Amino acid sequence: MEHLKAAVIGVGFIGKAHIEALRRIPNVDVVAIVDSFNVEEKAAQLGVPYAFSDYKEMLDTCHPDCVHICTPNFTHKEIALAAMERGVHVICEKPMASNADEAAVMVEASKKYDKICALNFHNRFYPASFQMKKMVEKGELGQIFDLSGGYLQDWLQYKTDFSWKILSAKCGKTRVTADLGSHWFDLAEYVSGQKIKEVFAEFKTIYPERMNGREAIPVDTEDYSYVLLRFDGGATGMAEFSGVFSGKKNQTVLRVAGTEASLEWDNEKVNDILIGHRNEPNGLLTKDPNLMDPDVAKIISYPGGHAEGFPDAFKQNFTAIYQAIRGKNSVNQFATFKDGLHIMRVCDALYESAHTGSWIPVM
Ligand SMILES: NC(=O)c1ccc[n+]([C@@H]2O[C@H](COP(=O)([O-])OP(=O)(O)OC[C@H]3O[C@@H](n4cnc5c(N)ncnc54)[C@H](O)[C@@H]3O)[C@@H](O)[C@H]2O)c1
Repeated sequence: MEHLKAAVIGVGFIGKAHIEALRRIPNVDVVAIVDSFNVEEKAAQLGVPYAFSDYKEMLDTCHPDCVHICTPNFTHKEIALAAMERGVHVICEKPMASNADEAAVMVEASKKYDKICALNFHNRFYPASFQMKKMVEKGELGQIFDLSGGYLQDWLQYKTDFSWKILSAKCGKTRVTADLGSHWFDLAEYVSGQKIKEVFAEFKTIYPERMNGREAIPVDTEDYSYVLLRFDGGATGMAEFSGVFSGKKNQTVLRVAGTEASLEWDNEKVNDILIGHRNEPNGLLTKDPNLMDPDVAKIISYPGGHAEGFPDAFKQNFTAIYQAIRGKNSVNQFATFKDGLHIMRVCDALYESAHTGSWIPVM
């Protein structure tokens, strides 16, 4: 099989996770990394042959088949455009861009250049998420009327916690709503098959300024948010997103209520789905390829009893995307730029709602 060349742009937290996942996919080689800080040292540590500080130079020198954009959100658009213009497939981190206008430009370019343009909404590739989707599709829950939950973290709990992710100039209009909410919105839509069509939001910022070392920096993004949602299939939902919720390291919860049964998934127990019944005992489905839908079994690498989590979801997502690059279908659908744009529109509508106090349609 032909080897495909991958390059990872931005090698902080998530760029390294991309590299690890790529190394678990046969016949895909990580040929280069790009980073604006200490890139030679990073390449040596990671065992990657080529290192660049300029992504255009990397594209023109290494001619990769696919780039992984793992840089701060405000850079995603220009990097994606440069890659597509050179005929390179793109896997972009979420949120897709700083706002929906930028994301729309990326979608137009993806149509023009006809490349595989994927978003890393990796939550779609947990066995539990795919299984929940299958159960909804088979009608096992009846009519879905409620999609709720949220995504909570605590790494920005204190005034002295600082990151580029706090600044709207780098993260975009919204912080936790786009950073954490984008994952949750996509997951809720993916599992339910319903799209968010109207939103209402309350945004809160605990610290009007934060300390970056000794320097006080004004904060113009939300520390936490509450959202109400109306879906096009008739469901309603509510969710909360927070970077300042003590003790919650990285918890995503999705609850799905239907007229016949309900489901609950918590990524802190990533391999389990709770199945709620009214007239029979509740169920617990723990990941096991023999007990799950045959399509779900195809995105499971290990037998029951062997946990599969965050790095595995990346592997399964990238496997599906590289299959598409090779012109092959996969059983599960990865998110595309079109999906990423829709979620950016949801985030922009939530921003508008939080600042006007009214329900806002998602355009
Ligand atoms: N899918 C997920 O679960 C997930 C998790 C975390 C982050 N992310 C997303 O991944 C992206 C990166 O987040 P992170 O947490 O890894 O951030 P990070 O700050 O840890 O890493 C970003 C890296 O990009 C480099 N960089 C910045 N500008 C650059 C440029 N112009 N060219 C090359 N390199 C540049 C920085 O030096 C740094 O090494 C963000 O969009 C974020 O939302 C996704």
